[in-house]
Amino acid sequence: MIPPYDRVIMISGANRGIGLAVTELLIEHGYRVSLGARDVDTLDALKIAAKPDQVACFTYDAFDLDLAKAWVAGTARKFGRIDGLINNAGISKPSFNIEEEDATILDLMISVNIKGPLRLIRLALPHLIKSGSGRVVNVSSLSGKRVKNSNFGYAMTKFSVVALTHAVRRHGWDYGVRATSICPGYVQTDMTAKASAVAGSDMIQPQDLAVLIETALSLPNNAAVAEMLVNCRFEDQF
Ligand SMILES: NC(=O)c1ccc[n+]([C@@H]2O[C@H](COP(=O)([O-])OP(=O)(O)OC[C@H]3O[C@@H](n4cnc5c(N)ncnc54)[C@H](OP(=O)(O)O)[C@@H]3O)[C@@H](O)[C@H]2O)c1
Repeated sequence: MIPPYDRVIMISGANRGIGLAVTELLIEHGYRVSLGARDVDTLDALKIAAKPDQVACFTYDAFDLDLAKAWVAGTARKFGRIDGLINNAGISKPSFNIEEEDATILDLMISVNIKGPLRLIRLALPHLIKSGSGRVVNVSSLSGKRVKNSNFGYAMTKFSVVALTHAVRRHGWDYGVRATSICPGYVQTDMTAKASAVAGSDMIQPQDLAVLIETALSLPNNAAVAEMLVNCRFEDQF
């Protein structure tokens, strides 16, 4: 595998939470990063911290196919290669209820959590294959492994993300593409700011997840990890 400093990694939702933490770590470790965010101005601080030509910023909204195309094409044009894709952007809308007929909220989660990552993978795949050691890291959740609360619409999407990851593993294996699902429990970000089940300081810290994501990116082709389950509290299944 080529050394990290030469590798080019795309990260969705790079502006805050887990996406921001992994972006900061990758910049610190010398990766070149292509960052996607709905408001590209929110990425300005990251550019300041990086070396010249280490960071490229693109507008990415999971609902917009043209933006996804422009991001992938713009990344390949700027850096001449794409070695990894971190599908991090995601939403949780616990208000969706199994008894509801209106699936509007579920559709929103499907668009951002499943269709967005699928589209980026499809567009980036030729570049990842060309890399010879392409990596896809999909941020799923422990909610993608079990249904523990009433937020089941979110869980449906995160189960799908795990399935998508396995599909990429099958499809890309012979070309050196490896895919990993990161499945954390509670992480202390804006998404869990109102959660009461676990105190914020007892949640997984985004910086610790960033280390695991970088590990998935940097392991060689013959040491692939399909799923990383990450707990902040004991669960007897995982
Ligand atoms: N926090 C947890 O406990 C936890 C646990 C397991 C898994 N996860 C997963 O981890 C990932 C990151 O979550 P987080 O905790 O870091 O949450 P967060 O702080 O709420 O950040 C969510 C990110 O997703 C982006 N995003 C939302 N809707 C988008 C859209 N339509 N198009 C493009 N980007 C969009 C946000 O952009 P804006 O800033 O523009 O809104 C933001 O960058 C998600 O996939 C989440 O499901 C989180």
